Amino acid sequence: MSDDKIVLTGIKPTGTPHLGNYVGAIKPVLEMAQNNKSVIFIADMHALNTIEDAKIVSKYSYEIAATFLALGLNPEKTIFFRQSDVPEVTQLAALLSNVTPKGLMNRAHSYKAKIEKNKEQGEDIDAGVNMGLYTYPILMAADILLYGSDIVPVGKDQKQHVEFARDIAGSFNHIYGKDILKLPEPYIREETGIIPGLDGRKMSKSYDNYIPIFAPENQLKKLVMRIVTDSKTPDEPKNPDESSIFNLYKHFASATEIEDLRQRFVHGGMGYGTAKQILFDAINEKLKNARARYENLINNPGEIDAILVSGAKKARALAKPVLNRVSNAMLGKDIA
Ligand code: ADP
Ligand code: TRP
Repeated sequence: MSDDKIVLTGIKPTGTPHLGNYVGAIKPVLEMAQNNKSVIFIADMHALNTIEDAKIVSKYSYEIAATFLALGLNPEKTIFFRQSDVPEVTQLAALLSNVTPKGLMNRAHSYKAKIEKNKEQGEDIDAGVNMGLYTYPILMAADILLYGSDIVPVGKDQKQHVEFARDIAGSFNHIYGKDILKLPEPYIREETGIIPGLDGRKMSKSYDNYIPIFAPENQLKKLVMRIVTDSKTPDEPKNPDESSIFNLYKHFASATEIEDLRQRFVHGGMGYGTAKQILFDAINEKLKNARARYENLINNPGEIDAILVSGAKKARALAKPVLNRVSNAMLGKDIA
């Protein structure tokens, strides 16, 4: 990817970041951020269509900020901020709603899934659907278009939203003059494999089977020891590819270590307790320095605020000219 392209992504603060998020989303985003002009923000306004408790939104926002910083995000290099600290984004969303067909929102996967469920349950189709959910793609388009993003790395569930941002920018440019808004490209993160949770299903906050990235050491150990296994005895050979222990280990160990553990599974003679201890040591080793930084940050929210506020200033500087271009095209004046 070329150096002058802007890579942008947002993270919705709807849960404590877990090892699935780390391997599947956070690590790849941080790698991209190192080699590009990058904008990363905490999409706290996006959390509001599901979370009604301000304390929770704020808690998760701090956790995400501290997680990214502890894992190496460099706020001198990456513009890192809270979405709600940039009022221009809601101004742009309001303006863009006028070039967004209602039918486009009707086609959004998350909205459609919700109304399908309502239909199945014999409810009114829009039961439980607030306008935050319905217009979610407009706010997300504003997030993307406001900073002149070129590339938007997302998981595949978010691809449609980035395509909507392109569509909205396209219709805006069509009506108001081409090249006012830059059309972004989605960059779908390669699947790194699904990280299994404690019960063997996909690790997810929805299943309550997750290991927080920065669980304190003793809690991390307890959680690893709780991973569900079959009832094979230590002597019996075991299939590594069907084991959550082995599948997690693959993401935290070197190629030789992985091969060693594979052999110990296949040949038998190792109990699951030993395998879990090996897994715990690997995760702990990989994350312990970052955990110390995380704990330091999370106990000093003022430090996090200072970083995010300074990021928001930079973001607003990037946003203002874009918003003014849009405002001039639509209202014939700069925006206040
Ligand atoms: P959750 O399932 O806990 O609600 P999210 O949907 O908020 O997680 O996940 C955000 C991103 O983290 C996803 O787009 C995906 O890239 C990654 N991710 C989440 N869980 C896993 C997992 N178990 N394995 C791999 N990647 C995951
Ligand atoms: N909708 C994304 C999610 O649920 C988060 C998000 C908000 C985002 N705004 C964005 C991602 C802009 C990329 C670009 O995960």
